[in-house]
Amino acid sequence: MRVGVPKEIKKQEHRVGLIPASVKEFIQHGHEVFIETGAGLAIGFDDDSYERAGAKILQTAHEVFDLSEMIIKVKEPQSQECKMLREEQILFTYLHLAADRAQADGLIQSKCVAIAYETVTGRDGRGLPLLAPMSEVAGRLSVQEGAHYLMKHLGGEGRLLGGVAGVPSANVLILGGGVAGFNAARMAVGMEARVTILEKSADRLRQLDDYFAGRCEVLFSTSEAVETLIQDTDLVIGSVLIPGESAPKLVTKDMLGTMKSGSVMVDIAIDQGGCFETSRPTTHADPIFVEEGVTHYCVANMPGAVPLTSTMALNHAVLPYALRIADKGWVTALGEDEGFMHGLNICRGQVTHQGVAQSLGLPFQSFLR
Ligand SMILES: NC(=O)c1ccc[n+]([C@@H]2O[C@H](COP(=O)([O-])OP(=O)(O)OC[C@H]3O[C@@H](n4cnc5c(N)ncnc54)[C@H](O)[C@@H]3O)[C@@H](O)[C@H]2O)c1
Repeated sequence: MRVGVPKEIKKQEHRVGLIPASVKEFIQHGHEVFIETGAGLAIGFDDDSYERAGAKILQTAHEVFDLSEMIIKVKEPQSQECKMLREEQILFTYLHLAADRAQADGLIQSKCVAIAYETVTGRDGRGLPLLAPMSEVAGRLSVQEGAHYLMKHLGGEGRLLGGVAGVPSANVLILGGGVAGFNAARMAVGMEARVTILEKSADRLRQLDDYFAGRCEVLFSTSEAVETLIQDTDLVIGSVLIPGESAPKLVTKDMLGTMKSGSVMVDIAIDQGGCFETSRPTTHADPIFVEEGVTHYCVANMPGAVPLTSTMALNHAVLPYALRIADKGWVTALGEDEGFMHGLNICRGQVTHQGVAQSLGLPFQSFLR
């Protein structure tokens, strides 16, 4: 199969669809790979490194789209990219279509086969294997950012996360112990903070309790627990998710008044509306704001801050799926794996994902019918 990777054109996006090591795997499987010049340059992968891996470098995105049967990207296609897609061409990337009618219309008109990373599920229908790497990154980064904004010159309380001998470490409260929350807890425990995770799922509570074995508190989540614990917390990490719904507001505006001045809240769940009542999306260019003396960090695209790590983690998750499409064709690859089939969002001008169709108010057409 001819596989193409254009340079990402969305503002402040430095990730790239394939790294040279992934290109090499495609070549070893007998496929051809086309890379737009400079696609990986921002994170240290120059054209030479792609050529050494066996890719052909093309000068424009147009050439990449023209020559490729499958386009592999990171971000959703921008309007000029949608126009370059054609009938039966495979697009494999993050799409986040539910709130993006313009993109959906563009993909429908192109009649391409659009497979979204974020709706691929595990074989048993559980978990989101192509979203999880970004939650891992966001979870780990949340503690790093939180520790940063606890510093006095940045408006924080002036407390070191791990304390020092004879001086108490910071209290970190993590709301939701899923992929992001677990990774946040690992970092916070590693930095020797005093960590509490609040979680709702009984199975997950058991897993977390087993893993941490007393190195942090793992408690059942109730509004009373949040209300009580938050008063003595220095860093709150919001990482709850109720799939398909906007995030529940676990920290209300009233609760802020009971918190320490200079404490920090990182709302990872901001991409689902946020789990603090006072959250609103921010960007890496202007990541924080202060409400009631509490610093809010609500960047909706946290992994964008570490595009090298994020790209590599994403490649490791995506590569086996992308290779299956290239080796077998998308109909067989998706047909053999129900979880992979959940990734099919738009196909030949029809919306083929029930949730996406419902959110957009468009008719749903099962590909399996
Ligand atoms: N801001 C970013 O850049 C960024 C990056 C990656 C992920 N995210 C977001 O982070 C959020 C978490 O993602 P994830 O992959 O960790 O999800 P996940 O499904 O693995 O974990 C969510 C956890 O929240 C728990 N939960 C639900 N309601 C709860 C409640 N009331 N109290 C306590 N726990 C509760 C669930 O049981 C689950 O364990 C999502 O909204 C995701 O989109 C944001």
